[in-house]
Amino acid sequence: MVGIISLVTGWPGPSGFGSATTAEQVTEGIDASNLTVIITGGASGIGAETARVMAQRGAQVIIAARNMEAANEAKKKIVSSNSAARVETMKLDLNSLKSVREFADNFIATNLPLNILINNAGVMFCPFQLSEDGVEMQFATNHLGHFYLTNLLLEKIKRTAKETGIEGRIVNLSSIAHLHTYPEGIRFDGINDRSRYNEKKAYGQSKLANILHAKELSRRLKDEGANVTANSVHPGLIMTDLMRHSLFQMKVLKILTHMFWKNVPQGAATSCYVAMHPSLKGITGKYFLDCNEKEPSDLAENEKLAKQLWTFSEELVKSAQRL
Ligand SMILES: NC(=O)c1ccc[n+]([C@@H]2O[C@H](COP(=O)([O-])OP(=O)(O)OC[C@H]3O[C@@H](n4cnc5c(N)ncnc54)[C@H](OP(=O)(O)O)[C@@H]3O)[C@@H](O)[C@H]2O)c1
Repeated sequence: MVGIISLVTGWPGPSGFGSATTAEQVTEGIDASNLTVIITGGASGIGAETARVMAQRGAQVIIAARNMEAANEAKKKIVSSNSAARVETMKLDLNSLKSVREFADNFIATNLPLNILINNAGVMFCPFQLSEDGVEMQFATNHLGHFYLTNLLLEKIKRTAKETGIEGRIVNLSSIAHLHTYPEGIRFDGINDRSRYNEKKAYGQSKLANILHAKELSRRLKDEGANVTANSVHPGLIMTDLMRHSLFQMKVLKILTHMFWKNVPQGAATSCYVAMHPSLKGITGKYFLDCNEKEPSDLAENEKLAKQLWTFSEELVKSAQRL
């Protein structure tokens, strides 16, 4: 109840920020000129605003996108309002593990450091489709591509943190929709089962996977003593291109529930908070909403499920590579 009231009123929570806080407000006074950040899906929506604000704070921003025209347009927009912005675009298609590998190789070849990885790209409610590697599209894009990408960049993030003494941060964009998944959470026995596919539950499953991934990753990083955190966020409800497969439904929903919706600058606030705010130093394995830590679902807290997802994802990556 308190959560709903603060969502509607924008009252700040314990962090001092709330649902009405924008990405600019949450990063005010932060000097990010010593940081390099990769933002997947940074060509539009929440990712594009995250890129703009991080560049405004001085970060070297890499927009990783499948649509290079849109990525270059996003870069142009940022640079036209801030000529000092350091923004680059690089091709990444999360539906293809080959593309993920090429992106990681290309990024590593730049010799740039990597302080922050924001796994932001996503698709929602798409009709049943398989990725290039034969994996259900929402699971492949939202989880598996990011799982593989993170693993490929992990050494770079850890090394950067070690060499610079600056904590590395990995942020997964999840969703409140993680609450609405298949009863077993992740459908390991039928990830590609078209006959049991439900586009809403498949989205919820992929967003649950985003939280489980961040939690298991954070446990592994802690065990290694790495100076890198991994957290997940729900950005809020924001009208973006994400709604392309359910535009009519979402427009009706927005009319009925308009007080629960945010604009894009507010939508990018939680990602920027978790990626950059000094008060979150050392905080890892947590889930955030409206710039405040929140408890996710019981399934999202299930350590066994997180470990099972990790092994399952590793196997999927391996089998895709054998194709
Ligand atoms: N908006 C919301 O209300 C809401 C709520 C909860 C969670 N989220 C999460 O927030 C994140 C950002 O969503 P958004 O609302 O900003 O939506 P958006 O504007 O559609 O942004 C998503 C981005 O991901 C990119 N993308 C999709 N498939 C990709 C692929 N295979 N490879 C590389 N990039 C790909 C899209 O590129 P294309 O344009 O080429 O498709 C787009 O740039 C998502 O993870 C979403 O699940 C959003």
